[in-house]
Amino acid sequence: MFTSISNKASEVLSPMPNKIIDKKGEFTFSQDTIVFVEPQFSSEAETFIDLLLEDLPYEEKGSGENELYIKKSKVKDKYSLEVLPNKITVSANSNELIFSALETLRSLFLTYGHTIPCCKITDWPKTGYRGFMLDVSRHFVSAREIKKLLKAASSIHLNYFHWHLTDDQGWRFPLSFDEKVNKESSVRKAIDYQEERVESGIYSIDDIKDVVDYASKLHITIIPEIETPGHAMALLHAHPEFGCTGGPYEIPTTGGIFKDVLCVGNDEVIEFFKKVFAEVAKLFPGPYIHIGGDECPHVRYESCPKCQERMKANGLKSAAELQSWMTVQIAKIVTDLGKIPVGWDEVLENTQTLGLPKEVVVMSWRGSQGGIEAAQRGHKVIMSPSSEGVYYDYRYDNTNDDEHGQYWGKATIKMSYDFEVVKAEMKESASLVLGGQGNLWTERVDFGRDNEALLFPRLVALAESLWSENKDWEKFKKKRGAIEKRLSSQDVMFWAGEWR
Ligand code: ACM
Ligand code: ZN
Repeated sequence: MFTSISNKASEVLSPMPNKIIDKKGEFTFSQDTIVFVEPQFSSEAETFIDLLLEDLPYEEKGSGENELYIKKSKVKDKYSLEVLPNKITVSANSNELIFSALETLRSLFLTYGHTIPCCKITDWPKTGYRGFMLDVSRHFVSAREIKKLLKAASSIHLNYFHWHLTDDQGWRFPLSFDEKVNKESSVRKAIDYQEERVESGIYSIDDIKDVVDYASKLHITIIPEIETPGHAMALLHAHPEFGCTGGPYEIPTTGGIFKDVLCVGNDEVIEFFKKVFAEVAKLFPGPYIHIGGDECPHVRYESCPKCQERMKANGLKSAAELQSWMTVQIAKIVTDLGKIPVGWDEVLENTQTLGLPKEVVVMSWRGSQGGIEAAQRGHKVIMSPSSEGVYYDYRYDNTNDDEHGQYWGKATIKMSYDFEVVKAEMKESASLVLGGQGNLWTERVDFGRDNEALLFPRLVALAESLWSENKDWEKFKKKRGAIEKRLSSQDVMFWAGEWR
């Protein structure tokens, strides 16, 4: 069961608040607790109460009147949370920080139940962008499960969710104008490394709206991703005319990188993506749209007459430069919709001729080098290097052969905890780093809830690293009982091995 839980608030919370003082006494939340909320924070207060009551129903009897105040303060960029025996006061200058404060308070209740120890907290985020990515192509994840993950992510102050909606093995974003894609690109006939499993699923518009609405209540911004020009086999299956050879193409039963990608010489492909991104932009209110760009082989471009023609017309010297031409087209579609494009770090390559539009945010995944180079070239950057403990498809520990997770990579809890988004080589350009995120690719997620155990507790370690100014691995490890209690209270599964 759980390791022991300290009775001091300062020894249980994660992310570790930046300033916390333990106080004498306890506060009990009950039906008699009176909540006073300034009107501008009514949505945050309602969300807090809803979330709390899902996991901690009211006790039948009250235990005497006490008060919870949720108010505006003049202090910018910090929240404050004071728990006294008869009164809790939560204050901040913005809705976002009021919600962070309430999430810290929810953590205290999830740790202890209705009666929590008194304390005084002043807190702020060290890093602005604190995210996680989920691949729903290789393994479809229902809207309901995603909401559960968002709730757990919110409890550790994560504020971005990167939703990887399309890939070779399945297209999950519903299109109003293309029922063929919705039907044919979302069904995988077999998975050769997991017998007797068929993986299929497409979200409905209502599913997307439901998740977007839920995330917005939690102050989590969603970054939807539509992969271009590689990782497109599922789309090519429904639209073989979008490939260089014309197909036919099957949705792969394996993982991997496939040489059939979107034909960059075909104007129809670009017209199709204009419509796709218009629908994405309409459904997702956040500022960013991810356009993919990773792992795109160029071999088909070399012998495709349309692609060769495109190269000639644009003075491109290599098939590789053609991908960067496509990146520019897709980025323009996204910026014309009033959104900011985000791309995997391959978008930096072969841009000698065309450059990379300056507004493209680069997501560094093949180590940190892409992030360093992007920042030095003036791009904003999100750090998610696969080599630094934030690829959650990797194993927790490569000493155990039975474990889930990709055998070729390792991401221990400590690696996640030690991960830092700013690198010395960035120098002044470090100010362009927005933050960091952990990624869960789902080729090896066998059953629905395995993704919980791959994400947690590594995501908790990452969240503390991104939030707290004074992190301390030894102190973090001592919070294990409290962290597991909070995850269990929210019905979230977690990895149970040794923390190292
Ligand atoms: C990636 O991991 N292929 C971005
Ligand atoms: Zn082509």
